[in-house]
Amino acid sequence: MRLLLCALLLGLTFSVSAQNVYNLIPAPKQLTPLEGKFIFKQGMTISIGDVVFEPVAKLLSQRCNASAGLTLPIRKGKSGRGIVFVTNNSLADEAYQLSIASGKIEIQAKTGQGAFYAIQSLLQLMPSQVYGTTREPIELSVPKCTIEDEPRFAYRGLMLDVGRHFFTLEEIKKYLDLMAMYKLNTFHWHLTEDQGWRIEIKKYPLLTKISSVRKESMLGHYGDDKYDGKPYGGFYTQEQIKEVVAYAASKYITVIPEIEMPGHSQAVLAAYPQFGANADKIYQVQTRWGVSEDVLFPREETFAFLEDVLTEVMALFPGQYIHVGGDECPKTQWKESRFCQDLIKKLGLKDEHELQSYFIGRIDKFISSKGRKLLGWDEILEGGLSPNATVMSWRGISGGIEAAKQDHDVVMSPNGDFYLDYYQDDPKNEPLAIGGYLTLEKCYSFDPNFPELTEKQAKHIIGVQANLWTEYVNNFSYAEYMTFPRALALSEVAWSAKTQKNYPEFKKRVKAQLPALDQLKVNYAKSFLNQP
Ligand code: ACM
Repeated sequence: MRLLLCALLLGLTFSVSAQNVYNLIPAPKQLTPLEGKFIFKQGMTISIGDVVFEPVAKLLSQRCNASAGLTLPIRKGKSGRGIVFVTNNSLADEAYQLSIASGKIEIQAKTGQGAFYAIQSLLQLMPSQVYGTTREPIELSVPKCTIEDEPRFAYRGLMLDVGRHFFTLEEIKKYLDLMAMYKLNTFHWHLTEDQGWRIEIKKYPLLTKISSVRKESMLGHYGDDKYDGKPYGGFYTQEQIKEVVAYAASKYITVIPEIEMPGHSQAVLAAYPQFGANADKIYQVQTRWGVSEDVLFPREETFAFLEDVLTEVMALFPGQYIHVGGDECPKTQWKESRFCQDLIKKLGLKDEHELQSYFIGRIDKFISSKGRKLLGWDEILEGGLSPNATVMSWRGISGGIEAAKQDHDVVMSPNGDFYLDYYQDDPKNEPLAIGGYLTLEKCYSFDPNFPELTEKQAKHIIGVQANLWTEYVNNFSYAEYMTFPRALALSEVAWSAKTQKNYPEFKKRVKAQLPALDQLKVNYAKSFLNQP
């Protein structure tokens, strides 16, 4: 009898899954397939058990309207047919439960964010036209199922470098839309570089007047030494920054600004040479790619400048983290400087690495005194890690491991796994990229599980991030190409349980996502389709 029941159940599961497919990215923690589908119909109501769900309910209603012309009125209430949002305080902040049954979809969440993720899953289960705006009378249906879901990591990030190439507000918003679709919650906005400063700072107007424009840009690969002869610039006003931060917040994305120091700051020196080696030198905004030797000096005037800048930055970005770079700061000028060598002696430091540590430590104190947290690239470990620093590990994972052992929080962003400026297929068949080789599969295979850490230390790994550096990425369509679909792999590494990892199965789901990305006019790379 029991055998018969098992056989029946197995048969049922098989026939259900054969009929319904669930191509979600990131894969949810648990999904139980059911037979049949729920069809959205004109006039069905969306009931919200709490006002926190209202923006999310609106989003669903707007999507159904824009894509299929359906009107789904929103009303207050915890029950009813149609779509119902219910508070469930036993869930974690980002968790949700979704039940798609006959005539009723129930979404349970504790917060608006949890409900928002439920809607992202629901939209992914709908026909891809739901992402469109044609208002055609298509059938919006979803396969029945129940889902219980929550993320593996709290920090799920994507970085965009707008220093090397500038992207418009509309483009940034599209990037945020796509991040939200795949449940990424942190946008790291790399705002300053040797090649351009991109954020308005009221107290230092030359940062936008001078530092935001370079006289030309390098063409082809570093070493070719060819230039285009065309001035290139751009920056975001503080009003525009606020607009982006608010837009991101409406998608439950926190924006982390990055203000680079003490390296990657040649553009600052073009406007304010007094913060570098030689106040009398004529610095330019850098035109070639690669790291500049011209860096900020640890003078009191420089710290006052940076504190002013960070004060304006903190007023614009309400999130806890302020990224201060700290990577790739050549020490040649500090070595050759009487001022720096005297300061090293005066402070009892061993070398220039400890001087950089002193630099970051000063900034850490300032940021911490304002109730925020400093985030920096893994070079900030050299010369000693500042007490409140969180480390972003980019030169592999070893910096992150070391920081976690020292009881510091860590974001893992290793270049070999998460650098989206790397080629994703044979360079012969790809547009110009910086180098490297990062396939979709390699990105997907990264496992942020480190046996060398104790259970307590492992808790310091707060999440993962992929980075798009844009030396060679000179337009947004190309940025999309480099980001997608590899950001889908990032999303699954960040969100889904390790036990769910299965590349062939993931690849099928990525293929199933392509029509949605087509609807959204995303120029994703198809390179992975030719790979095993
Ligand atoms: C980096 O790639 N320099 C963080």
